[in-house]
Amino acid sequence: MRFKHWVWVLPALRAGVKAVQCAAPPLNLPLRTISVAPGTFSHGIPISIGIPPQQLVLTPSLSLDTPFIPRYTDSCIYAADASRPANATRWNGRDGKIVCAGIYGGGFVPTLSTSFFDNGTNSPVSEAWFKRARFSDWHFMTDKFVFADYLEAYVQQNAALPEKRNLTTSFILPDEGATFGGLSSSVLSLTPGSRLLEALYSEGMVPSKSWSLSNDSLCLGCVDENAYTGEFQNFKLADRDKDGGLPCLLQAKVETLDYYSDGSSAGVALLDDAFVACIDPGVMSLVLPTDAYTKLPEVVGADVKAAFEWSATSAGLPKNSSSFLRFKLTGDLEVDVMLPRAGVEDVKDPSGQPLGIETGSWGAYGQGVPVLGKLFTASIVLRWDEVTQEYGAARRNPKASEKSDLEPLGCDSFLSLGKYVETTPSVGVILQSSSIREGRGA
Ligand SMILES: *[C@@H]1O[C@H](CO)[C@@H](O)[C@H](O)[C@H]1NC(C)=O
Ligand SMILES: *[C@@H]1O[C@H](CO)[C@@H](O)[C@H](O)[C@H]1NC(C)=O
Ligand SMILES: *[C@@H]1O[C@H](CO)[C@@H](O)[C@H](O)[C@H]1NC(C)=O
Ligand SMILES: *[C@@H]1O[C@H](CO)[C@@H](O)[C@H](O)[C@H]1NC(C)=O
Ligand SMILES: *[C@@H]1O[C@H](CO)[C@@H](O)[C@H](O)[C@H]1NC(C)=O
Repeated sequence: MRFKHWVWVLPALRAGVKAVQCAAPPLNLPLRTISVAPGTFSHGIPISIGIPPQQLVLTPSLSLDTPFIPRYTDSCIYAADASRPANATRWNGRDGKIVCAGIYGGGFVPTLSTSFFDNGTNSPVSEAWFKRARFSDWHFMTDKFVFADYLEAYVQQNAALPEKRNLTTSFILPDEGATFGGLSSSVLSLTPGSRLLEALYSEGMVPSKSWSLSNDSLCLGCVDENAYTGEFQNFKLADRDKDGGLPCLLQAKVETLDYYSDGSSAGVALLDDAFVACIDPGVMSLVLPTDAYTKLPEVVGADVKAAFEWSATSAGLPKNSSSFLRFKLTGDLEVDVMLPRAGVEDVKDPSGQPLGIETGSWGAYGQGVPVLGKLFTASIVLRWDEVTQEYGAARRNPKASEKSDLEPLGCDSFLSLGKYVETTPSVGVILQSSSIREGRGA
């Protein structure tokens, strides 16, 4: 009986693991630091939207299923339920547009785009983030979309020209005069239900809806084997609607959190108890539990004003400071996060430098909801595998200059390109077709 059973099971297993062809060659997009308004710098994925194109920098994020792009408005840092008003004295005397551009990586002006279409609906309010923030002053819109680096990345990685370079896709745009619903970045949606990834996938522009993300690049349908060391630690997709749970998709337990004034000194423990936190590269700051938040001023130095209503600031960290926080997550992943230093951020505020540690009242998942935001994710390689429905986190490879080694993620072998001969003034003549890369274990 046992033997017979195996005879039946084996072919079935085989069929189950049949290699899945990727829908496209890999797309490894660089994260860039770009100035979209005088004196501001935004780090993220540059895009062009509309005809004629408007430039924005999007931040990879796990908050929304649809990319969010703001309008330019003086009220861009105000959120209805937040304690931090639009005219917080911190921004006094500065041009609201430039503040918006600095925070959001630019803004969109729909009246300037001939291909803009407001589809007139935001209902049902399907976006969990906005449902929670009770923010409904927005509409779905569609417009032409292109990754600013798509052509260059494609040519570099495939030695061929792409057939398709842009697509029309949905965005969330706040209504005229509306505040921005508490987000702290323009969102490049990387959720499992991302409308953008779905559109790119169905147009054959990305290999799969899986991705990996480092501080240097976003690999769509791929992972750069040289970007990390060791193994990925996996995290099940969390239920963000669970009563009493955290309202986010990627959650991890922080066992210990220590402050180090430099690499050679002993760490100082900041936690009384382990805590569960959201991990989201779209949240700019760290939101820590109360014990860490109250101990930090003592260990960093008297100049830290952690009591400030929404954010810890420091006048004490000099430019050459090498202080960092060491997070140890369940499963032994250890991540060092450098604290921002004087002069790193474009905030000329006499009361001190933001430490990137906030209470969550604005730009995070809510007051007191712990979040390991971009400051943290910039120090790891993060991935989503839609086949296993798991997130993964791994240590960054410190040898950043290594050549990239792209492997398929969410599918088994990259789409091979046919023989291709084409000329463009900037690219030249391409005679070679790219080679096919096989996924591991495929
Ligand atoms: C800032 O906002 C508050 C409340 O909305 C208002 O009372 C105050 O006059 C504003 N200050 C400035 C400088 O606009
Ligand atoms: C979209 O891509 C096509 C080629 O695929 C190109 O001809 C067209 O100009 C592009 N449109 C925009 C708005 O970039
Ligand atoms: C508007 O766009 C959203 C997002 O793409 C879509 O779900 C919805 O069906 C659209 N509604 C209409 C009326 O076109
Ligand atoms: C940082 O610079 C100051 C003044 O230039 C110097 O005194 C201090 O030793 C430096 N600290 C480190 C950690 O290099
Ligand atoms: C991430 O990249 C930006 C821009 O290159 C850089 O300023 C920043 O220090 C990097 N962060 C980490 C943690 O490496």
